[in-house]
Amino acid sequence: MKRYGNITGWGKYVPSRVVTNADLEQTLDTNDEWIVTRTGIRERHIVEAGESTSQISIAAARDALDMAGVHPKDLDLIIVATSSPDYLTPPVSSQVQDGLGAKNVGAFTLVNGCTGFVYALATAQQFISSGACETILIVGAELTSRFVDWNDRETCVLFGDGAGAVVMQATDVPSGVLSFVLGSDGSGAEHLILPGGGAVHPPSHENLDAGLHSVRMNGREVFKFATRVLGKALRQALHQAGLEAEDIDLFIPHQANVRIIDRAARFANLPPEKVFVNIEKYGNTSAASIPIALCEAFEQGRAKIGDTLAFVAFGAGLTWASAVVKITENTQPVPKSWWQGLVSRWFSPNHLVSNSAPQKTPADHTPEAN
Ligand SMILES: CC(C)(COP(=O)(O)OP(=O)(O)OC[C@H]1O[C@@H](n2cnc3c(N)ncnc32)[C@H](O)[C@@H]1OP(=O)(O)O)[C@@H](O)C(=O)NCCC(=O)NCCS
Repeated sequence: MKRYGNITGWGKYVPSRVVTNADLEQTLDTNDEWIVTRTGIRERHIVEAGESTSQISIAAARDALDMAGVHPKDLDLIIVATSSPDYLTPPVSSQVQDGLGAKNVGAFTLVNGCTGFVYALATAQQFISSGACETILIVGAELTSRFVDWNDRETCVLFGDGAGAVVMQATDVPSGVLSFVLGSDGSGAEHLILPGGGAVHPPSHENLDAGLHSVRMNGREVFKFATRVLGKALRQALHQAGLEAEDIDLFIPHQANVRIIDRAARFANLPPEKVFVNIEKYGNTSAASIPIALCEAFEQGRAKIGDTLAFVAFGAGLTWASAVVKITENTQPVPKSWWQGLVSRWFSPNHLVSNSAPQKTPADHTPEAN
């Protein structure tokens, strides 16, 4: 019998601190009108000093697990998609595994920029289809604010912090990732790069002084690349699933630029009412943007159980990824047991952050909130 990976739970965590375009005007030569008309972004959420990628991942994951009725110890695998991990090593996925109390559960980190979540989803589906796993946690989390130069107006205005998570569970009901497209063109690597801190430019005073530890972007080139690949990748995923644009209930794209989203939707013949956009509130949260948007789409009633969704993302690499995903009723028994009450009370994001062991994180270079 064919095995599918249905998405049975989802959760998100966004930091409470909001930095508006007007806030950025105080420290940068920029303005709200430029940012809104070029990108669609009005504000973004930025973590406080002391918060870490593992913490925000755990907060989002607990909500997703709670919704699915899955205890962390019953997971078979944890995949964390991020390009802003707590440390270069150990992998942040192990911090998430430990923090969740998912004792000895296998975990790995998938570093693929803004396409990381869709790559992780496609990967998880393979573990389920093959029979290797029953239940997988997939997290997309990003603290990009720690890796942008807050004096570089061309990049820092675009990004925000946040985390989203989903639980994927095996079922024989057709659902989950119905099709996916993964693509990469490394010849464009230089257009979106964090040059320092890796093996080519390891940490040194010289490399720090040269500003190699911050994201560098050629916005125009990335824009051209995105408009070239996104609509096409979306169409390919629809074709592979044997579906037409009208079969898609909601298109949930990576939230990088509203103009890029509009072009991709038009290319794939998806009308605006079928396109989910929340970039105005969060900016580009990289690997977290699609799972955060998925949560909001359900919260707002834009998505519902039974829907067929289309995801598409692009980002550093340069890479792209699309997937058609169907979400059906959870056919797994959802236990209503003593621990669920505990989970909701003890594992709420605020409780988690205030009670987590302090972690050493880089100093906060982001602008002060007003
Ligand atoms: C970055 C981006 C918004 C710029 O928009 P654009 O329409 O291409 O703007 P341009 O590159 O033509 O720049 C226009 C001018 O605005 C200036 N500018 C750049 N950032 C600015 C800012 N924050 N505020 C005000 N002006 C700014 C530029 O310096 C340039 O000035 P110049 O004409 O005097 O040289 C757009 O290219 C983009 O979104 N690219 C994709 C980036 C992306 O998605 N990255 C993440 C990938 S996951």
